[in-house]
Amino acid sequence: MTNENLDPEFWETNFIEKQEMWGLESSNSAVLTKDLFIKNSVKNILIPGFGYGRNAQIFIENGMNVTGIEISKTAIALARKHYGSRTTIYHGSVTDMPFDNCQYDGIFCYGLIHLLDITERQKLISACNNQLSNNGYMIFTAISKKAPTYGKGKLISKDRYEIFEGAKIFFYDMESIQAEFEKVGLLEVSEVKENHPLFLITCKKNET
Ligand SMILES: C[S@@+](CC[C@H](N)C(=O)[O-])C[C@H]1O[C@@H](n2cnc3c(N)ncnc32)[C@H](O)[C@@H]1O
Repeated sequence: MTNENLDPEFWETNFIEKQEMWGLESSNSAVLTKDLFIKNSVKNILIPGFGYGRNAQIFIENGMNVTGIEISKTAIALARKHYGSRTTIYHGSVTDMPFDNCQYDGIFCYGLIHLLDITERQKLISACNNQLSNNGYMIFTAISKKAPTYGKGKLISKDRYEIFEGAKIFFYDMESIQAEFEKVGLLEVSEVKENHPLFLITCKKNET
């Protein structure tokens, strides 16, 4: 993958140096999403931007089948070390989705979409929606303009900054969420406190 917006080396280097950099506990967003998935009997989950699997664990513990997509080989090796080899994890970029012909009734994408440029974000949203079964739910978390890093670094395009080399981030507000997700069944947006203020964006596919 040669796209200058997506630097696989950036993540590989980070995982080699910092290993399980966010700990092994699932994020607050994954806990909230697990409750939504249980309530709606969601069973088969796709996680684009899988990392080393900390967010997959809570779904697996609750009897769901999880498939991941991850660009860093080291992150995948860490996931294997902690959580075994039962889960399918495709090594590659979400820009090359789909990796299989499966339909998933739940998609959970944490901390990835804001790393992409507008074309890649649209492609990710549409690729996820294509792999979502009817009545399925897809949940994205995206960094908010309320984050203290908003406006720092080099401006690349509206609301997108290179905070430091290799880390280009698009900061969301309600307007950009509406614009990007309204065509894929945007259902609810809430704010979640993680390391940064994040939006939890919930979409439901409803084809009649
Ligand atoms: C902010 S981290 C979040 C990781 C994981 N979701 C978690 O919360 O533990 C973003 C993840 O997406 C992966 N990633 C970045 N760009 C990617 C791409 N184009 N395709 C697939 N994975 C990507 C990174 O390697 C990293 O694991």
